[in-house]
Amino acid sequence: MSQEATRALAEARRVLVVTGAGISAESGIPTFRGAGGLWEGHAAQDLATPEAFARDPDLVWRWYRWRRGICNAAEPNAGHRAITALEASHDALTLTQNVDGLHARAGTRRLVELHGNIDTARCTDCATLRPIGELGGAGVPECPLCCEPMRPHILWFGETYWDGTLDRGIGFARDADVCLVVGTSGQVTAPAQVALHAKRCGALLIEVNPAASEVTPFADIWLRGPAGQVLPDLV
Ligand code: OAD
Repeated sequence: MSQEATRALAEARRVLVVTGAGISAESGIPTFRGAGGLWEGHAAQDLATPEAFARDPDLVWRWYRWRRGICNAAEPNAGHRAITALEASHDALTLTQNVDGLHARAGTRRLVELHGNIDTARCTDCATLRPIGELGGAGVPECPLCCEPMRPHILWFGETYWDGTLDRGIGFARDADVCLVVGTSGQVTAPAQVALHAKRCGALLIEVNPAASEVTPFADIWLRGPAGQVLPDLV
């Protein structure tokens, strides 16, 4: 463990955490772009777009129910729990790109799920949100309020971030002392940009990832290893 990282975190007051699929890899949820990644065998643009949903909503729902089963069967790991522990000692905010719900299940409370949540459906018309578990197990669920089709509450390719989500991270980043970037390839650029914004505003940028990412060239410290091992040591 880098002493500089441990010291910086110990001295930090405000910590921004940005996570991606890698933090849930040790919980058994495949990452998006790794070998065996979730998109393998499925063209993302065939399933995770508004156009795909308009074309074949049944197929999109089947795929998301399959993914939901994987996420719900998984348990938070030591990496998720270390981030929860950080909240007890620091002014911390976690921005996650993951939709698996594992941060919340590990007890992290100040959390922004930038890309939505696999357990939630949203009405395509009135935007009502409902837990998927309340809506029946097959087909395209109907909105209990207006009877229009519901869709997964997930940010799809080609869609813009919901109001307030990125802004909350950007506002917090301004005064962060440390920004921890964990388990993301950085290929979806908006969350990585929030981390880089924190760095530009003076935060020390610490990356946790066993492999180099788009963020690595900008990291002040790269802790090269799996989150479930590195984060408990660090925190
Ligand atoms: P990726 O699959 O692109 O990247 C996963 C990252 O996790 C890689 O950099 C791996 O090296 C790293 N990794 C693997 N195992 C790890 C471990 N045990 N500990 C730490 N890191 C590990 O996933 P994301 O960057 O999260 O968006 O992908 C971003 C977005 O792309 C997703 O949220 C999704 C997708 O399109 C939407 O669905 C909107």
